[in-house]
This record gives sequence, structure tokens and C-alpha cells, in this order.
Amino acid sequence: MRKITDFTGSWLFSKPGEPQKSVNLPHTWNASDGQDGGNDYWRGTATYTKVFHRPELEPDSRAVLEFLGAAMTADVTVNGVHLAHHEGGYSTFRVDITDALRDENTLCVAVDNSENDRVYPQKADFTFYGGLYRGVNLITVPAEHFELLRDGTPGIFVTTELSDDLKTAVVKVETQHNGDEVDITLNCVTITVKSHAEFTLENPHLWNGVDDPYLYTVTARLASGDEVSTRFGIRKIGFDPNLGFILNKRPYPLRGVSRHQDREGLGNAITVREHREDMELIREIGANTVRLAHYQHAQEFYDLCDEYGLCVWAEIPYITQHMDAGRENTLSQMRELITQCYNHPSIVCWGLSNEIAVHGMSEDLTENHRLLNDLCHKLDSTRPTTMAHAFMLDKDSPLIDIADIGSWNLYFGWYLGELSQNDSFLDEYHAAHPDRVIGFSEYGADANPRFQSPKPESGDYTESYQCVYHEHLLKCIEERPWLWATHVWNMFDFAADGRDEGGKAGQNQKGLVTFDRKLKKDAFYLYKAAWNKHEPFVHICGSRYADRAEAVTEVKVYSNLTPVTLFVDGKELDTKDGKTVFTFKVPLTGEHSIEAKAGECADRITVRKVSEFNPDYSFSRKGPVANWFDEADFDSSCYSIRDTMGTLMQNPSTAAIVGALMAKATASRGEVAKSASGNANLQKMMAGMSLQALIRQAGENVVPPEAVRQLNAALQKVKK
Ligand code: GCU
Repeated sequence: MRKITDFTGSWLFSKPGEPQKSVNLPHTWNASDGQDGGNDYWRGTATYTKVFHRPELEPDSRAVLEFLGAAMTADVTVNGVHLAHHEGGYSTFRVDITDALRDENTLCVAVDNSENDRVYPQKADFTFYGGLYRGVNLITVPAEHFELLRDGTPGIFVTTELSDDLKTAVVKVETQHNGDEVDITLNCVTITVKSHAEFTLENPHLWNGVDDPYLYTVTARLASGDEVSTRFGIRKIGFDPNLGFILNKRPYPLRGVSRHQDREGLGNAITVREHREDMELIREIGANTVRLAHYQHAQEFYDLCDEYGLCVWAEIPYITQHMDAGRENTLSQMRELITQCYNHPSIVCWGLSNEIAVHGMSEDLTENHRLLNDLCHKLDSTRPTTMAHAFMLDKDSPLIDIADIGSWNLYFGWYLGELSQNDSFLDEYHAAHPDRVIGFSEYGADANPRFQSPKPESGDYTESYQCVYHEHLLKCIEERPWLWATHVWNMFDFAADGRDEGGKAGQNQKGLVTFDRKLKKDAFYLYKAAWNKHEPFVHICGSRYADRAEAVTEVKVYSNLTPVTLFVDGKELDTKDGKTVFTFKVPLTGEHSIEAKAGECADRITVRKVSEFNPDYSFSRKGPVANWFDEADFDSSCYSIRDTMGTLMQNPSTAAIVGALMAKATASRGEVAKSASGNANLQKMMAGMSLQALIRQAGENVVPPEAVRQLNAALQKVKK
């Protein structure tokens, strides 16, 4: 019989320059330094050692170690014998240690997360934690057993074919083993075969997304007693350029979020408890899809998606910067992802890469994608491949036609431009390419819940602007049902060690929920109001905006009920009909208790009138989040920063003035600006933007207020 022994306890961990210490798994050595921003987190080779007795083995039995996550590369040694080297920090790999075993054994795993030029990820907006951050098991199997070593295989694969009328399903089961024949059992029916079996089910119970994610279990058993089983779902998926995603013959727009796996204080060394908590939060907003970015997540989470019916975008970390020496690693990571995750009904596509052309295109990059795409089709003929493209990628890039479907990462209204450019980008692209299946793989805005504003604006890191941003984007995606999937970036704040902005070092704060999962930002409730059809609620935004200087304040309510009535100090103020977002104007004279009611639900906040804007609410600015040029009088007969880039670049004098600024900004904004300066597509987008919007987007640390004044003064000297 197969025996699985948990090997998470009693490891000795040693890292250069530190004393050895006892640790249990899951473990990462970057649990804290990977999220403090600015200071380099420790990257290198650390060693985990464990002593264990010889396991009981029948004659010719095999002992295999299973590593569920070793980031980013690992070397496994038993009793001084080097047995395996693995490259890829997010997949399972297994090592047969039988022949190296003694009565007493010393297992040593050297794990490395150093920089290199061949193992992805190397350049991306998240921390590359190091460690044995998931579990380790010792598996013993009889001489006759299912395959364990090849790409971390489950040893059993299920492919289902559902008839067009959804009434008949053919379930094809393939097993990998070294025996003569195998008993395969489904629904109490057993077929004895060499390796493959087919079952036909009439009127199958379908896996139907979040409404009814029904799962079957199939079991395979060898004469030796070794046994494997897997759950699977019976569903039919489709992708249409105009209808979007199709599930079981009906349009089923995928509307949801992205998730990084890490958690404040734990890094990526999380347990099933944290996986479950993340899933509960994603289900609370009513998402029906999750993009598991930017790498292979733990099997526990794919299992939860199967159980709760969320459709998954799975991907490998082929991200941001292509590496010529990294081709084999992309192929091996994709082979392991598909081999290990093939049976999950929740997975509907395989992501080849993310924004991989940001630093430019090359034939090697293109060929790498062709090989990846072919590999996916070879390993899995049932799911399409996809890619997440950065907004500046040329819409006619040959890269786009490699994958079967595609999605876009757009940040208009955050990193640059106006909110409306998300709508125009998607509509123009859909019109130009009516045959392409289009998704919206990333959109988001950073928000630190400490920061609030009566005049929210892009780049102010306020919770208030994150609401404005997502209200626009929610409407944008509701008006475009042809988007096959949309994924908020991100469900949770996450560690991005290189960041130090928005008042929190080392974090990307685009989450709807904070890094510790303890605070649901107001925008969380916007999506809950739009998508959660089961739990009636009312949420008043702005509970953290208690001190308010304005005489009349805006109070926004999110609810999946209607109408909503607002009470101030117990007196009814107003009732609003509508859907999802309800906005009220409330006069302020002192301290007020504000309550919103709808149906049986209510929510309440307290605000108080103050004379001055509370500077604690403003990131790096003291006073209301506004710029001097919002109020200044300009001579409209002359050029100014309020003119669009297109206008300013047409006049030689103003073009020279602006050109000097752009050269300076490019120098300070690094790669993305450089690629922007050479990118016709982005130039076209920027031409429609006012210089004022561009300056605001760049931020004061790139274009300080004094420089803006001088620039505007120079432009105002040029008559139109
Ligand atoms: C990119 C990238 C993400 C990143 C995000 C951001 O689109 O794909 O990994 O975190 O933008 O800048 O927040």
C-alpha cells in the first residue's frame, strides 16, 4: 500500500551568516525582509537539513520524496549523494531516494532564490521569496506503482467530452504505471485495462460554475494495492469574440479578481487555513473567476476553485523581461503546470506570459512563445492558451496571434491617462479585431486605507480614488459583455519589495483587501454589491474619513439592495433608487451619526465637521489633494499645460519646451518611459492626454511643482 509521511517537522535551517535554527515547514527566509521595501531582501542559497529513519519498505518498494514548493531552485542530497536538481519555484517535484537510504538518513536541500538569467521570474512587481514554502512528503509505494517522478505527475488523467445537447459525457481516464493492468472505477463501475478506460455517462451532473460545481471522483488501483484517485468535473467551455466565455452552452461572463499567494508576515509560506480565508473573501464579493498570477499556485487553492466553481486562469511566471537562456525553464514550468493541474475543472486556460514585451520584442521571444503554445496544445487539447499584454504593446504585434485568446493589462486612470481611455482602448481594439477573443486581465489603483480625500484624484493613493476608479471600471466591464474575462488587479495587497510608495514600503496596494486580510477597503463592497447575489448588505463608504472640512459632504453607499435610505442623526435625509452605488449629499455642522438602510440591512458611520482638512489623510501632501494648477488662471490665447500633447507637439516652440521635459522625465522614469518614447502606439495615446494629466501621473518626484510652474510660464509666452 502507498504510505505518505508528512515531512514538514524538525528541519534545521541554515543561512550564510546566521546560526542554524530549527524550523517547521512551510518556511520562507524572506517572511519579513521581502516586504519592507527599498532594502534588498536576502537572496542566495540556504540549506534545510532533516534526519530521518529508514522507512519500512517491502522488497522492491520505492521511497520518493515529494516537494510541493521549493523556490526558486533546489538541490536534493541524501546521505551525501546528490539525487536531484530542480528549477522552478512554484511546482511539485519528486525524487526517488530508495537506493541512497540507510537506517539513519540525512536529507539536505539547498534552496536558492538568487538572481540568474534562466529561471523565471527574474524581473516583476512581486517579491521572489526563497524557501521550502509549501510541504514535503515521503511517499513509499510497492514495486508495482503509479508513476510519481515524471513532471510531478498525478499518475491519472481525466478528459471529458460532453455532447452538444449536454446529455451524454464520455469520460476518458488515462493512467501511468509500471504494472500489467489496472482497475479503474467510476460511479461504482470498474473496468480492468492496461492503462486507458472510457466511461459513458448519460445525463451527467455538470460542473456548472459557482451555481453548481459538481465533482466526480475516479479511482485507479493496481494488483499491488497502490491506488490513486482524482476529482474531475464535466463541463463544456467556449470562447466567442462577441459572446465572451461560454459555459455549458450559455454565455457566462467571467468577472473576478487576481490573487498573489503571499500574506503579510508569512510571505508565501502559508497553509490551507490562509488558502481557505482567501477563497472566502473572493467568494464574498461574488467573483466567478480568479486569475492565479503570476505562477503555479498550491494544489489546495485549485482544489478550492473546483469545489466552489470559480473559473481559473492558470499561468507560469514568464514575465516582464524575456531571457534567451530561459527558454527551457518556461517549457519545463509549463509542462509541470499542465501535468499537475490538468484534472482541475476550474482551470479554463493556460497563460503563456505576462507583459513579456515591455522591454522590447525579439525573434527568440517570439519563438519561445510558439514553442510554449505548441507544448500547451500537445499536453492539453481541451483548453486555450492566453497571454496578458501590457497596454503599450503594438496591437498588430505578431505576438498577439500566437496564443488562442488574449487579455490586456490596462491602467488608464492610474499610471497614465484618463479613466475613459480604458473604454476607448477596448472598443477600438474590439472593432479593429472583431475575430479576437478579448479579456481584461488587469486593472487597478493603489489605495492606502489611511488616505482619504473630498477631491479624489489619480495617484493620490486614497481609498476614495480607488472607489472612483473601480466605479468607472465596473461600469466599463458591465457595458462590454463580450469581454471573456475581467480580473481586478488585485484582490489582496501583496509584497513588491522594490516599491516604497503610498505610505507603505514594500507593498503593491492595489488590493481590495489589505495584505494581512484584516481590512476590506471600500471598493471591496462595490464588487460585492455588483456580484454577490446571495448575501444582502449595505455598506457606507468613508468610515475612515471621519474628519471632514467640507460644509456638504458626499456619502456613498454600496448595496445589492434597492432603494437605500440615508438617516443623519436619526432623521431621514433621503431615499435613492438605483443599483450598486447610491450617492447622497450631507450637510455637516458638527458630529453626525450617518446610517444607511435597505431592506433588513443597515450600516452606520460617524463623521465630524472640522475647520481644516486633516493632513493625516493625505499621502505626502499637506492639505487637500489638489495641485496649484487646478485653480490658477491661464491666458487661454497662449499655450499652457492644459493643452494636449498632440497640440503642444505641433507647434515648434512648444514642442521644444515639452521635448526637454519629456527627455528629463524619460531619464528618471526608467524603462517603461523609454519604451514609451519609442512606442508609436503609446505616443498616439499620450497625444490625446493633456500635459497636465501626464505631469500629475508622473508625480511630484519626477516633475516637482516648481518645474511645472516654470514649464507653464514658458508655454504661456507662446501665442496660439
Ligand atoms: C503589471 C503587472 C503586475 C503589476 C501591476 C502593477 O500589469 O502585470 O504584476 O503588479 O502591473 O503595476 O500593479
